Amino acid sequence: MKLILLGAPGAGKGTQAEVICKHLGIPAISTGNILREALKSGTEMGLKAKAFMDAGQLVPDEIVIGIIKDRLAEEDCKNGFILDGFPRTIPQAEALDASGVVIDRVIDIEVPDEKIVTRMSGRRVCEKCGATYHLLYKKPKAEGVCDICGGTLIQRKDDHPDTVKARLEVYHKETEPLIAHYKKQGVVKRVDGQEEVADTTRLTLAALEA
Ligand code: AP5
Repeated sequence: MKLILLGAPGAGKGTQAEVICKHLGIPAISTGNILREALKSGTEMGLKAKAFMDAGQLVPDEIVIGIIKDRLAEEDCKNGFILDGFPRTIPQAEALDASGVVIDRVIDIEVPDEKIVTRMSGRRVCEKCGATYHLLYKKPKAEGVCDICGGTLIQRKDDHPDTVKARLEVYHKETEPLIAHYKKQGVVKRVDGQEEVADTTRLTLAALEA
């Protein structure tokens, strides 16, 4: 299965990608995570991406297209993959189409903007392993400490409300048109993001089988 998860920032793409990855046994590829890793390692690509990410803007297409081409050429992608956060612009989708990748399903997770802003302010991530928590919906066992690796939980710079608003603007302008792009290919299923993660997961898995 070659799958794309679409949706606004904070709609729950990363959360669902983790579940589907275990369910289908295919890798989940997040361009956001790859860029944050590159930044942590201090690579040239990471440093180039930093200013865009901190401001809630998109990293230039040629950088992310290059990242995805390299990643999809890896052995573990040969039976399928989940793309979380790519494509995000029409030129990115066209580059994917031109590379011969045929997408089986696009899940569009819909959550209203006002809910997104509240959700994002409660997100915390482990600075060591990147695991995601939420102050209300997915609390760690010990406050401020990652259940998995014991790392410190921090708030992403781009999760501050003003930056989230900027990211939502970019989403509506640059990424939402992808829904129409993939509707033309007949592969889009819409899932209404629910209050409970498990409910969204149930709907997402049903949309994969439909
Ligand atoms: P990226 O990391 O991809 O950010 P994003 O799309 O904005 O996605 P998020 O990780 O913020 O949200 P999500 O939908 O995965 O939600 P999550 O599951 O974590 O990208 C960051 C930046 O990198 C971009 O702004 C850009 O600069 C750059 N970039 C990346 N890809 C790019 C590309 N292709 N082109 C150009 N630039 C690119 O959930 C959010 C929170 O809500 C969590 O705390 C979670 O626990 C909670 N939650 C999830 N589901 C529910 C639920 N059902 N109910 C209640 N809470 C929930």
